Amino acid sequence: MKRICVFLFSGTGMTKYVVNKITPELEKLQVKVDIYPIEKTQIQSIPLSTYDTVGIAYPVHAFNAPKIVVDFARQLPKVRASNVFLISTAGENHPVNYSSSRLLINILHKKNYHVFYDKQFYMPSNFAVKYDEPKAEQLIATANAEIPQTAHDIANLACCKRNNSFLSKSMAFIGRAEWFGAVFIGKLFYADKKCSHCGICADSCPNHNIVSGNHMRFKWHCGLCMRCLYICPQHAIKVHQPFKFISFEEWYTNEELLVGRKK
Ligand SMILES: Cc1cc2nc3c(=O)[nH]c(=O)nc-3n(C[C@H](O)[C@H](O)[C@H](O)COP(=O)(O)O)c2cc1C
Ligand code: SF4
Ligand code: SF4
Repeated sequence: MKRICVFLFSGTGMTKYVVNKITPELEKLQVKVDIYPIEKTQIQSIPLSTYDTVGIAYPVHAFNAPKIVVDFARQLPKVRASNVFLISTAGENHPVNYSSSRLLINILHKKNYHVFYDKQFYMPSNFAVKYDEPKAEQLIATANAEIPQTAHDIANLACCKRNNSFLSKSMAFIGRAEWFGAVFIGKLFYADKKCSHCGICADSCPNHNIVSGNHMRFKWHCGLCMRCLYICPQHAIKVHQPFKFISFEEWYTNEELLVGRKK
């Protein structure tokens, strides 16, 4: 039986949704899948050489892979040779997103990881613009329809690459400014009086950026993954102006996309 490991980062559940759907499809093809959340994984503890194929799954942030994912790739050990597939989710099927994995591929290539498959799924946006429910459901249905073929391609080491236009490469380069912008925007987060001090947001922040207690505090390590905003059961986390617009009042109703927040 083939063995695959997937290193997953998912801020608010969209990428996790896709990986969770691909996994049983791979298992139908006699592939055993282990999923490791990037924020909880010490790469030294993973028996990489026991896997036939390695996967990395991430959401597109400002036309790139999030910094936490790029940093993780930098920690991967050099190997003799390994096949890698990339799965990303973006809020929009637009060519500006097509170079999101370029930096990741360069880092991996230098360590002898060969990226044979680079597939982008389009899922509901979790940032600034909330899609209406029919559009969200349409995107999910399209992703669902593509999942069996994706699993088949990964299991068979089929090739999937996107065209990197000059525009998308430039946008990816410029978009990396978001890594620095995120820490400043994260300082504008606050918990309003509905906060019950349960600590869920602090426990779930991948960057350990939240100090819970009587006075909730947001430090300087935010990766703008949006998880805390939607996981808070009291809907208490807000963003000061001028960045109030980045979060939605309500999360999507689709239960499988639920990061924790209910209506
Ligand atoms: C900080 C940030 C930046 C984003 N930038 C983009 C982008 O450049 N292009 C895009 O299509 N979607 C963008 N999105 C939307 C997400 O890529 C999309 O909703 C993704 O499916 C979220 O996945 P997750 O729930 O696994 O985090 C962005 C989201 C965040 C939080
Ligand atoms: S999850 Fe919400 S209610 Fe709980 S500590 Fe965080 S802000 Fe407060
Ligand atoms: S503070 Fe919130 S948005 Fe920032 S990294 Fe932590 S969970 Fe993500």
